[in-house]
Amino acid sequence: MTAPRHFRTLEDLSADELNALLDRADELRATRGSHARPLEGKTVAIVLEKASTRTRLSFEVGVRELGGAPTTLIARDTQMGRGEPLGDTAHMLSGYVHGVVFRTFGHERVLELCATARIPVINGLSDTYHPCQLLADLQTVRAELGALHGVPVAWIGDGNNMAHSWILAAARTGLDLRLACPEAYAPDEAILARGRELGASITLTTDPVEAARGARVVTTDVWASMGQEEEQHARERAFAGFQVDAALMAEAADDAIFLHCLPAHRGEEVAAAVIDGPASRVWVEAENRLHAQKALLELLLS
Ligand code: CP
Ligand code: NVA
Repeated sequence: MTAPRHFRTLEDLSADELNALLDRADELRATRGSHARPLEGKTVAIVLEKASTRTRLSFEVGVRELGGAPTTLIARDTQMGRGEPLGDTAHMLSGYVHGVVFRTFGHERVLELCATARIPVINGLSDTYHPCQLLADLQTVRAELGALHGVPVAWIGDGNNMAHSWILAAARTGLDLRLACPEAYAPDEAILARGRELGASITLTTDPVEAARGARVVTTDVWASMGQEEEQHARERAFAGFQVDAALMAEAADDAIFLHCLPAHRGEEVAAAVIDGPASRVWVEAENRLHAQKALLELLLS
């Protein structure tokens, strides 16, 4: 039996594969409703240990549009929520379905599922990475700005799962990543080092203006991610000065776009005038989750 192919982080795709996947995502976007249905007869489980709107919907709709059947498990309502070992769950899932999208807390849980699963596992977000979101973000940047290589991208805020995924995206695409994070909330040093080892161009600063100056993409995320709710107040204090507002956008290039994986907190990490303003591409970005993940499902499952 050949080993299943997983999508744990962007490192699971070569630069050429990522580029081809983004081309295919554009094709699927253009031919929605008339393209082939390579998942006919296949079922994909979407297993959620954290809340989700977009990831759940985009995978449910995407699997259906490719001819397959999605089934979603809210983990706390299953035996997983009562402590059934992940390895046992992986054995069981492998006998029923053809692939699994898994959203969880510690990234080691993604790796643990992969260790036993005989079917492809897609990381639908862990505490450390959110690679599916980056597929959509890269598709959006390429469509809006015509390129990825050399494009200056400013990440403003928390050095979180999204920031880590941008680091690996920089390694795979050659985009020029500038991260502005409070010192205590910088990205994981090992992931930064890994990105640089893979050839990524990355600048790390504590000054949002330095990161945003001349950037063609400005992007951010919530200050307290899922699982960090009790840190909300401390984080609001630590991230004061890191809001993406009109003044910060004015530092960026004239044609700069604003991205946010959503959900967003207006008045915290982003001003309403920015996310609801002319530079914002958050709705096309959210829609691209569907097209990019359909391309991923085709690659891994058909
Ligand atoms: N961006 C994203 O993953 O959204 P959800 O948490 O709604 O799935
Ligand atoms: N960093 C956020 C992303 C949500 C899509 C979180 O992990 O909650």
